[in-house]
Amino acid sequence: MDIVPLGPGFAAELRGVTLADIAADDAAYAAARAAFEEYSVLVFRGQEVTDEGQLAFSRRFGPPEVTKVGSLGTGTHFITLTTIGPDGKVVPSDHRFALRNKANQLWHTDSSFKSVPALSSVLSARIVPDHGGETEFVSTRLAFERLDPSLQKKAVNTFVWHDYAHSRGQIAPGLASPEERAALPPQCWRMAWKNPVNGRSALYLASHAYAVEGMEPAEGKKLIDELMAAATAPGSSYAHKWRNGDVVMWDNRATMHRGRPWPADEARLMVRTTISATATDGVESMLLPTKQAAE
Ligand SMILES: [Fe+2]
Repeated sequence: MDIVPLGPGFAAELRGVTLADIAADDAAYAAARAAFEEYSVLVFRGQEVTDEGQLAFSRRFGPPEVTKVGSLGTGTHFITLTTIGPDGKVVPSDHRFALRNKANQLWHTDSSFKSVPALSSVLSARIVPDHGGETEFVSTRLAFERLDPSLQKKAVNTFVWHDYAHSRGQIAPGLASPEERAALPPQCWRMAWKNPVNGRSALYLASHAYAVEGMEPAEGKKLIDELMAAATAPGSSYAHKWRNGDVVMWDNRATMHRGRPWPADEARLMVRTTISATATDGVESMLLPTKQAAE
């Protein structure tokens, strides 16, 4: 297995290994897992991807999430992100599918609005547009390390509220349905996630973040906005240009990402699996201290 660095200080392509190798072989998994902890974004090219193969690969890293209400794939381990409607045609730009893609174009980390946050997401390209549609990543670990020590200390001791309805509300009022709101109450997480393997901390923020525990709403939002801007500073990203057969996985603890736009008449179909974070991934240190004491 060869590791080819891709981005500014993070992200790498793994060559000479397939998803099936990693699913089947302990040594291949150990090597891929070490690269995941180090590089935060891993790219695999030229894969022959099936849903089953993607799931078997994902399970290596931890328990797969069950897809929430309101997404294509509810109740399964797969989320289908598509602009192709039931009639086989690309949907108009005001269709719910298209608006959801717009919400994906805000900088975020996956599942910070869930009661169990995500370790990783695995995204495979099934139909790619000819133009645009990249997925762009930043390292929130490097962003944390760029902060001055007093701000690092503040982030470590601050807790942030995340709400799915907040990020969707930035695109269209009511984009989060009543069922989604009921199933996804706001969650509170520490603003820095320390990786238990290497001891390095990362800012834990997203478009879902809307308030800081114990701070006036405006003051908290200002802090979130400042740190989001610092984390996504120009020149700090890796934008993945998709080809058929590409699979990209990322560490939701140490990155943010956003989809980039593409022409509205070009189809795009991607399939995501998501792996929940567990105690070995450091999830318990993310809980509000009162919650830690109660559990
Ligand atoms: Fe995402």
